[in-house]
Amino acid sequence: MSILKKHALAACLATMGLMGAAHAQKAEVIHWWTSGGEAAAIKEFAAAYTKAGGTWVDTPVAGGGGAQARTVIINRTIGGDPPMTAQFNYGKQYEEIIKEGLLNNLDDVAAKGNWDKILPEKIKGQVKVNGHYYAVPVNLHNENWIWYNKAVLAKAGVTKDPANLDEFFAALDKVKATGVTPLALGGQGWQENITFRSILIATGGRDLYLKTFKNKDVSGPGFKKAVENFKKLKSYVDPGSPGRDWNLATGMVIDGKAGFQMMGDWAKGEFINANKAAGKDFGCFMAGGANSPYSIGGDVFVFPRNKAAGSAETQKKLAEMMISPAVQVAFNNKKGSIPIRTDVDLSGVDICAAQGVKAVKENRLIEGIDDLLSPDVKGAFEDAISKYWNSAQSADDVVKAVASALKL
Ligand code: BGC
Repeated sequence: MSILKKHALAACLATMGLMGAAHAQKAEVIHWWTSGGEAAAIKEFAAAYTKAGGTWVDTPVAGGGGAQARTVIINRTIGGDPPMTAQFNYGKQYEEIIKEGLLNNLDDVAAKGNWDKILPEKIKGQVKVNGHYYAVPVNLHNENWIWYNKAVLAKAGVTKDPANLDEFFAALDKVKATGVTPLALGGQGWQENITFRSILIATGGRDLYLKTFKNKDVSGPGFKKAVENFKKLKSYVDPGSPGRDWNLATGMVIDGKAGFQMMGDWAKGEFINANKAAGKDFGCFMAGGANSPYSIGGDVFVFPRNKAAGSAETQKKLAEMMISPAVQVAFNNKKGSIPIRTDVDLSGVDICAAQGVKAVKENRLIEGIDDLLSPDVKGAFEDAISKYWNSAQSADDVVKAVASALKL
């Protein structure tokens, strides 16, 4: 064989080999990370996967909170056209597709990566079902944060973080007096409900939260007081709120057009993406005060059973990459959340993440809503709260509506 032919054959084999590998490692990923901060964060995953020789095929489905994306993921998985991997929140959202036998488990990857040891105990409970790992956890978010623009508050004469609801309402009044919108709210059901749950915690702490969502008991003065406090916020919200996306509400705070936003720490990803620094340009505190419970929010990726050749290997590579220490740090720095591994160095994190790290150390984690309620009950509960926010319904009537939603 001539030298030329030998080279040509080698090149051809190499290309075939590469193509084979690339084909085996081609991964379609469905997620709902479409805001500026979210997109910057998932690019860390895509870049790491590409660097490891894989082909990342991004399928974002817009819609904060992910309801739209989850519908696509579940329909495609049940319909036999699953992606290689897909995003869910912690909790019961992927329970059904596990029961249907539609997910591959990650027990090999978990054993190799020592997940039993490196994951916080409560997180293990979210991703390990009947003794098998069915999802890779990628972050820890807390939904009960309050964000603010430091310059706006300074101008209004608010000199310290409100430590309780009375101080929060007083600060909102001060911002209102300067003519700036006090509270940036995206008027969509899931955002109204995050705001409500923060007020619930601010009103009655961990006990009221768990009484409501774990015991499904809204009797007594606590819950009624919480809905009244929630409705009090209405006078601090601008008329442009209905339908507004969460990241546009964060943008109002970033731009000094609003004082506060009550939102999970994915909002911090927007501040970071706009080159704003925690403690300098913006501040953060938890709705429940310094020792607030920290609700387990955040994201996992699941790996649907897939007919494509080599997909099980591809899925293992993806899971390993997502939870690897360097990727965890790079991804979470942009996402606004904290890494899910307990064995990475978190000493350099900003003042907001540091509060999260402290909450984990002090074991202040509490189950998130998606863990405590089935998707149906959660939906009915959230509809009742949104109806109350958007109508003249009385506090007594919403308490009754919520009580029957919880009985579903
Ligand atoms: C997810 C976050 C995401 C947020 C807004 C939450 O359900 O946990 O990762 O940034 O929705 O889209």
